[in-house]
Amino acid sequence: MTTIMTTSNRRYHITTFGCQMNKADSERMAGILEDMGFEWSEDPNQANVILYNTCTIRDNAEQKVYSYLGRQAKRKHSEPDLTLVVAGCVAQQEGESLLRRVPELDLVMGPQHANRLKDLLQQVFDGNQVVATEAVHIMEDITKPRRDSKATAWVNVIYGCNERCTYCVVPGVRGIEQSRTPEAIRAEIEELGRQGYKEITLLGQNIDAYGRDLPGSTPEGRHLHTLTDLLYYVHDVPGIERIRFATSHPRYFTERLIKACAELPKVCEHFHIPFQSGDNEVLKRMSRGYTQEKYRRIIDKIREYMPDASISADAIVGFPGETEEQFQNTLKLTEDIGFDMLNTAAYSPRPGTPAAIWDGQLSEEVKSDRLQRLNHLVNIKIAERSQRYMGRTEEILVEDQNPKDVTQVMGRTGGNRLTFFTGDINELKGQLVKVKITEARAFSLTGIPVKVQEAVLV
Ligand code: SAH
Ligand code: SF4
Ligand code: F3S
Repeated sequence: MTTIMTTSNRRYHITTFGCQMNKADSERMAGILEDMGFEWSEDPNQANVILYNTCTIRDNAEQKVYSYLGRQAKRKHSEPDLTLVVAGCVAQQEGESLLRRVPELDLVMGPQHANRLKDLLQQVFDGNQVVATEAVHIMEDITKPRRDSKATAWVNVIYGCNERCTYCVVPGVRGIEQSRTPEAIRAEIEELGRQGYKEITLLGQNIDAYGRDLPGSTPEGRHLHTLTDLLYYVHDVPGIERIRFATSHPRYFTERLIKACAELPKVCEHFHIPFQSGDNEVLKRMSRGYTQEKYRRIIDKIREYMPDASISADAIVGFPGETEEQFQNTLKLTEDIGFDMLNTAAYSPRPGTPAAIWDGQLSEEVKSDRLQRLNHLVNIKIAERSQRYMGRTEEILVEDQNPKDVTQVMGRTGGNRLTFFTGDINELKGQLVKVKITEARAFSLTGIPVKVQEAVLV
């Protein structure tokens, strides 16, 4: 029997953990829920459907979910109509065993099932407890995502990952690579342009792999569809002023791509290329498929074409067997490159990954000591790098109000630096504004808008 719902019990809440893929998936699932007649509830305690879109990249990310879930599971004892959903990467990793751990759950669904939320919920409303974690061909979503921002939007281009980095759960939980067709991607971007979005970020865990699973090749044997081709294919979409993409893999980053970014004016000069370690031996054991010398050559090449390009990356410290000397090589690379941003993490052994059971696991003390030392260096280097913005005029895409000062708005430079300036959000949201930078801190800038002098007509 299908539960009849009235408007009072049609409220949903989603809490999202993890990376941009999860944020994009949550926006699509929110779109599906709204299409089903549910309304957003900021407060989970007022919602009848609560969905946790989860992350399992490190142990602390996974543990967070259990503490959130525990609270809502208790609530279900007094409100049996409450629907509890765990989606995303923990759902995929744990599957059925999540039901044993939290029997109050109604639906456990892996990331490949995000676009099937409506069907899955229907099964729940029909009285079933559902686990959807089998590998599937990801279907195109026909509903409109409920996007958090009015200025900038995520666009998935490739799902999954075929790499086998020895520390990483992503291939296990996101499955094999599945590229969307260039036509479907362009259609989504065109719609975003029509809706007034000015910036898009093309998303993939290994975006350089885009297209290698699609049919077709050039006479020279190159894949017909590559990320570079995709950039040329979508860059003229009306209304879209800025194109970003993430995450890049040093193993596949090509000079052809670098040239395209330099040539196409809408492609932002910002590159997120994780290096993970500055030591060749560690990189080898991580199965990353490049050396630190190759990484440096990529950055040199980018700067040859685009001297001001922003470079960001991720790094892991305390990988099994990492010696002090090998860690020093990570410090050295960080010192030399001059990153605009670096996300750092202590290695966390993950279930089902090869490195988790290797000898040479380091103590928490050693890992956190290395993390602190790296972070200390990162703060200094990033503050230095930020100084280059002083006195410059930068174009800022206004995204929101500054939550700490309502007289200010905030947005990002083309290079992705967060920037604040005085202004009215109602007037400026989604606008590109030229701003002269007057203050440069490590992670953000402050400036004043530059008034465009209008020519006086005689
Ligand atoms: N696809 C991207 C990264 C995806 S995961 C890439 O290839 O770089 C995001 C980041 O989490 C990684 O770059 C890595 O720095 C970090 N990470 C992944 N697994 C981890 C683990 N087991 N312990 C600590 N950090 C990890
Ligand atoms: Fe994980 Fe490596 Fe794939 Fe990135 S490329 S998602 S680190 S397996
Ligand atoms: Fe986390 Fe899954 Fe992304 S594990 S980092 S949410 S792909």
